[in-house]
Amino acid sequence: MSSFPTMKMNSRFTGDVDDMYNIHGHAGNLCREAILEGLGRTINSRSEHLAVQPVSIADFGTADGRASLSLINEMIDAIQAGLGQKQPILVYYNDQPMNDFNLLSKAIQGNTHDPGLNITGSVYPVIVPRTMYEQCLPDDSLDLGISTVATHYLSKQVCQIKHGIYFKEADDGEQKLIRQQGKADWRAYVISRGRELKPGGFLITLTVSSNDKGELSSAFENGISPLGSVMSDMAREGIITQEEYLATNWNAYMERTADDFKEPFTCPLPEIEELGLELVSIKPINHYLRHPTFDIINKDTTDKLKYSQRIVAMVYPWFHHVIYRGLSDSRTEDEKEMITDQYFSRIQTHAFEHSDFKPYMIFTEVVITKSM
Ligand SMILES: C[S@@+](CC[C@H](N)C(=O)[O-])C[C@H]1O[C@@H](n2cnc3c(N)ncnc32)[C@H](O)[C@@H]1O
Repeated sequence: MSSFPTMKMNSRFTGDVDDMYNIHGHAGNLCREAILEGLGRTINSRSEHLAVQPVSIADFGTADGRASLSLINEMIDAIQAGLGQKQPILVYYNDQPMNDFNLLSKAIQGNTHDPGLNITGSVYPVIVPRTMYEQCLPDDSLDLGISTVATHYLSKQVCQIKHGIYFKEADDGEQKLIRQQGKADWRAYVISRGRELKPGGFLITLTVSSNDKGELSSAFENGISPLGSVMSDMAREGIITQEEYLATNWNAYMERTADDFKEPFTCPLPEIEELGLELVSIKPINHYLRHPTFDIINKDTTDKLKYSQRIVAMVYPWFHHVIYRGLSDSRTEDEKEMITDQYFSRIQTHAFEHSDFKPYMIFTEVVITKSM
């Protein structure tokens, strides 16, 4: 099994193409309050003699950086307002090494439409290509870390799901392995960030998860099941081989509950105590995705078409690599693209035929601090 995440989000920069940012918006905004509250405390706790030390903030699993950009700019403004324009600020951008860091670099730079990162004063962006399930920064160096919509990805693939492509379709044995990996990854993530945090620092993480009623994010009326059933149809019809169907696995775990997020603290892990980590809060967030067609009750054909295009645009950035990567290396790139296009056109047909559903995301916000 692969021990290295090889996914690459299909984020694109053309204004007229929907991508992860345009669809999900700025997910960081959902936990903006907690982020600014943690930052405020960090700023207030700075004594005069620390003022020359940089304030360091980080975004883990940043993708092309656009989802967090306005929030990071707001954080920079708050730091400069509290500690002065000359206050050095380090902004760490982390993602796994296969990420397209060129896109990130362009997002930081900005263009005529998007202002980019506010680097006036002494602001220094730093790119950190490394798995977030390991320590990415030196001990006691980080004032505030954030991560949104990234920690449901697993650090490695632990099994090949035989009768499906994602967790819900896995059998009991496969689900157990995936659940165990989810637990190990959350522990590793919390401990790694815990080492990096300065005493008094904060970590705010927004994870796609289950809520207290056991509900999960739903792009379709029956969860995400069309993502699996369309692929199994294509295998049955011989469009892809059985080996390709087997090789298509979404390496993510979206079922964590509030108890799972608490586990490193309730266990308790010795590292958590040694590091002085404290769980500040856990908050479930249900978020209905926004698009004008999602609110139309009796959709006509044009509405249904726009609705179905939007659903595909929403799924495409984080699911394209799952389908593409499952296809055999013996196929040409064109063939792979053709099959992937066919997959998404079938998803669109499904969405067109079931267009009454309003898609939503379920997240859990977790705030952690390191005691002084
Ligand atoms: C769905 S995107 C979310 C991007 C952005 N944070 C947002 O809120 O829209 C998930 C990101 O997590 C990254 N990711 C997945 N596994 C990772 C890992 N082990 N270490 C660092 N980043 C990872 C992916 O490469 C991807 O860029």
